[in-house]
Amino acid sequence: MGSPKFIPVNEPLLNGNEEKYLIECIRTGWISSEGPFIKKFEEQFARCVGRKHAVAVSNGSMALDAAVVALGIGPGDEVILPTFTIISCAAAVVRAGAVPVVVDCDPVTWNIDTDRIEQRITPRTKAIMVVHIFGLPTDMAPVLDLAQKRGLAIIEDAAEMHGQTCRGRPCGSFGNISTFSFYPNKLVTTGEGGMLATDDDAVAEKCRSLRNLCFKPEKRFVHDELGWNLRMTNLQAALGVAQLERLDEFVGIKRAMGARYTELLHGTKGIQLPMARTDWAENIYWVYGIVLDDDVPFDAVEAMARLANAGIGTRPFFWPMHEQPVFRKMGIFAGERHPNAERIARRGFYIPSGMALRDDQIERSAAAVKELLR
Ligand SMILES: Cc1ncc(COP(=O)(O)O)c(C=O)c1O
Repeated sequence: MGSPKFIPVNEPLLNGNEEKYLIECIRTGWISSEGPFIKKFEEQFARCVGRKHAVAVSNGSMALDAAVVALGIGPGDEVILPTFTIISCAAAVVRAGAVPVVVDCDPVTWNIDTDRIEQRITPRTKAIMVVHIFGLPTDMAPVLDLAQKRGLAIIEDAAEMHGQTCRGRPCGSFGNISTFSFYPNKLVTTGEGGMLATDDDAVAEKCRSLRNLCFKPEKRFVHDELGWNLRMTNLQAALGVAQLERLDEFVGIKRAMGARYTELLHGTKGIQLPMARTDWAENIYWVYGIVLDDDVPFDAVEAMARLANAGIGTRPFFWPMHEQPVFRKMGIFAGERHPNAERIARRGFYIPSGMALRDDQIERSAAAVKELLR
């Protein structure tokens, strides 16, 4: 018997109508960003998130860039966001010429500590960028109250939250503008892809323009503004339509995965597991994260190396924005400390969590984690 096969950290499920719809694109010749699946995907996605408009783009990172610009945020403005997130969030703010202002995360939910947002508001603050982390959303109730009280916009990064709700409302329905990613580790994938969602007609129009190089309908090659080519192809949207048909099933698969991992790992000394539920949501386990206790004599890097030797794929947690060399070089976040994010960045990692993960792979992964801590 050979050694058991390596369990990848993610594998998507593409066994619905994906192939059929892709063949349709090829047979009809609609492979560019003009094609019927784009409109279908946008309409169905908007309905699913409860928004008036959805604008399909090339990825979730560029969706954030477009969101910041579409809200008119630029030089002289500040945007508050969690330090524990992906670089795309702060990068979008910096690229717009604005200043990212970060807040530490909650040590248990790993989301932005909503109690600490208000103290970072200044006369220059324009928006709060909320990022829902790893499957358990940020409680939007205090953020909505604060934004309304202080006249701030909300950018909601729901990249990891397809099918999730907060207090019964879909994630992605709270922001003045919200963004999603369809990278293959997401609950809905298009290979690469992203979406902007909003109820605001003008913001949606601006997003469509930014997506398409700010071409003007009346004088195509004369530009008043700079945009990007952020167009999604009909091929990607075909995948998206097929994936969206199964969203409820996918959320069920993820919840079952999370519950099984917790059942197997519960009581293991030395680790913190994801919260199953809060007052505002039930976890959908975009990924199943683990944080090593302080008394475990090794860190996440060592744990991940040992798990790789046992044939288990892992990924580290995000590295905090205030500790990013690229921002430090730019003089951003100088001297800032955010201990909760610093700690989970060093002690946190996630284990195989993909949609195609089988029960026997969950059991092997959990057993390897337990072995690590014996
Ligand atoms: C919270 C969050 N925002 C944005 C992104 C960026 O999305 P993309 O990989 O599609 O650019 C990701 C990707 O994983 C993410 O997790």
